[in-house]
Amino acid sequence: MINVAILGYGTVGSGVFEILDTNKKLIGEKAGQEINVKYVLDLRDFPGDPCESVLVHDFNTILEDDEVEIVIEVMGGLKPAYDFVKKSLLAGKSVCTSNKELVAKYGAELIQIAKDHNRNFLFEASVGGGIPIIRPLNQHITADEICEIAGILNGTTNYILTKMDKEGADFQTVLAQAQELGYAERNPSADIEGFDAVRKIAILASLAYGKSVDFEDVYTEGITNITDIDFKYAAAMGKSIKLLGKCKKEANGIVASVTPRLLSPSHPLFNVEGVVNGILVRGNMVGDLVFIGSGAGKLPTASAVVSDVVDAVRHLNIPVTVIWDKEKLELLEFG
Ligand code: HSE
Repeated sequence: MINVAILGYGTVGSGVFEILDTNKKLIGEKAGQEINVKYVLDLRDFPGDPCESVLVHDFNTILEDDEVEIVIEVMGGLKPAYDFVKKSLLAGKSVCTSNKELVAKYGAELIQIAKDHNRNFLFEASVGGGIPIIRPLNQHITADEICEIAGILNGTTNYILTKMDKEGADFQTVLAQAQELGYAERNPSADIEGFDAVRKIAILASLAYGKSVDFEDVYTEGITNITDIDFKYAAAMGKSIKLLGKCKKEANGIVASVTPRLLSPSHPLFNVEGVVNGILVRGNMVGDLVFIGSGAGKLPTASAVVSDVVDAVRHLNIPVTVIWDKEKLELLEFG
């Protein structure tokens, strides 16, 4: 049996707890041993909730318990997540996280610390919600030069764009719905201004090219300026409007951006609607690969987190190879 601790019992954290309970037997079989949630850390109390018997309020209880081998960070944000994750890795625990802010800013450093301690820092859920994309880029599409990645990487904005386009819905009303459904960030400007998508494309570009892409260097434009007139023009041209994160290898370097784009019906992401994410990876040998699925929400995101936990159990003392150097990748100017 292996003991894990969940940091944060919000939307994703409670989803992780639920999946580890509901699918306990099959997850144990896939991991090779039973996975036991020894602690859930949260500042709040949850009277009557199944997590109540393992709920703790002090991170040090987890850090100092050598029986906890895997820490699952699903708190989001940088503070105190960065501190907790770094301390966990330094203490010889593996970490699985859904935290795109953390990965975009400190990914290279945390991967290195994990390697130095023969442990894993895994972050499948940080991009694309439930879609497997980090592991395919790291472990499967390894024979190719990545020519391009283009992704609908934010479920909230895709949900808003779809509702505005298909139902003529009002921007603010749909945004409020996305928040109620648990898709949107606490501060929804992270979604609608493209700040969430830019962290995700920076993570994918860093993995594709092996060096650190600073999300602050990536040209970013959200969806706040899109109006019903834009949808009318798009419809007249037979196109759809999508917020796309892109990175592309040009002859003299890499260019990256997050911008609304018009997609033709022949584009693999033309029909990706609702809270769904879609990611196109173009390799110079394999050609186009398209990954489509639930990009946000409790169980899809938690499913990706738990897939990392299974991977971490399978590779307890063997770090999974992740090539993401601290050296900065200078991007070409967008435009
Ligand atoms: N707010 C994010 C989205 C959640 O809408 O895609 C998943 O990262």
